[in-house]
Amino acid sequence: MEERKLKLGGIIDGVGWNYTGWRHPAIPADASENIEYYVQKAIQLEQGKFDLIFLADVSHIGHGMIPHYLSMFEGVSILSALSMVTHSIGLAATIATSYADPFTVARQIASLDKISKGRAGWNAITSNPGGLANYSRSHLRKADLYPMKKEFLEIVEGLWDSYEDDAFIRDKERGVFYDPSKMHPLHYTGNYFSVEGPLNISRSRQGRPVVFQAGTSPEFMDIAAHHAEVIMAPGHDFEYLKAFTAELKRKVKNQGRSPHDLLMMPSHNPIVGETEKEALERLREIESWMPKGYRMPKPGLIGSAEHVAEQIEHWYREGVMDILLIRQDHPAGFEDFIRWVVPILQDKGIFRKEYEDDTLRGNLGLPYPVNKYTK
Ligand SMILES: Cc1cc2nc3c(=O)[nH]c(=O)nc-3n(C[C@H](O)[C@H](O)[C@H](O)COP(=O)(O)O)c2cc1C
Repeated sequence: MEERKLKLGGIIDGVGWNYTGWRHPAIPADASENIEYYVQKAIQLEQGKFDLIFLADVSHIGHGMIPHYLSMFEGVSILSALSMVTHSIGLAATIATSYADPFTVARQIASLDKISKGRAGWNAITSNPGGLANYSRSHLRKADLYPMKKEFLEIVEGLWDSYEDDAFIRDKERGVFYDPSKMHPLHYTGNYFSVEGPLNISRSRQGRPVVFQAGTSPEFMDIAAHHAEVIMAPGHDFEYLKAFTAELKRKVKNQGRSPHDLLMMPSHNPIVGETEKEALERLREIESWMPKGYRMPKPGLIGSAEHVAEQIEHWYREGVMDILLIRQDHPAGFEDFIRWVVPILQDKGIFRKEYEDDTLRGNLGLPYPVNKYTK
């Protein structure tokens, strides 16, 4: 098997995943709900040959939260817009299984997959219980979240197989629109959800959207081992990540799946310069916007581009970083990474110079999921 190269993802999070980034002169103060800002960042990431744009989410807010969460776009809506100004980069939105409705989510993400011609991903998370209050689910408890998530995933994946790949004939001459034998209702009855199906949308060029998941607990791992294709993981602790990855891959194997088909995606907020001195200047610039005396937690990836690229290569070769997911704390974060670090990763031969494909699955090197009724 040819060695899979390193993949890159970028989180676009408007004014930033911190309290003070919105005050930086180079950030539009309304960046989290500014379409031009999102378009500019999406094009920038695609020019950097990134595999995917990733959006985190929040479902319950209140005073004291980061400015980004207080006024932001809904994920699928903004990614649909971005699909029209990009061509190869993947588009992954976070939607919590604890709040949303599986039929609606299956339909939204499948639509994004068709609109983008095979570039959609869905990050299925439980999220924290706070959101239950916004989605008429206050009668449920934290203990319900994982059993609910399991049903949710079974339904969504089932609905994405509603039609076999060749179900739609659309022959105008003969007047044959589709082959009824290739349409499959779901008839799912669970403790939380009951869905008859079928879903009224056909499969996409990548078969179905790529399923991402984020979490850490044993309950999380059991479900992820069965359903996840990409795991978003906390990125700061190498030893923790190594143990977590080994345990998860063991569970994947027990499910009869190939561990190669599960990609680890730790997230980082790299701060790089051409030299270490420049990187530290960037850090100080970020800190200058924070309240007096406050210091930013030191990022896991900081320093000269050469140094950061070496660290990335180490994590990649150790099998804990199939995809590096980055967000930017400095408004030039993506720009710095793309102009300084990406060329070094390319020279090392571990990152692409051109897209291999124009579907998300194709670029990630994930297998095409054959429709379960066709098998
Ligand atoms: C890397 C990572 C990213 C996450 N991203 C989100 C997010 O975008 N929105 C959200 O509501 N919860 C997010 N969560 C929280 C999880 O959905 C979940 O509530 C949390 O991990 C606790 O469950 P666990 O103990 O099973 O991991 C994230 C968790 C992790 C580990």
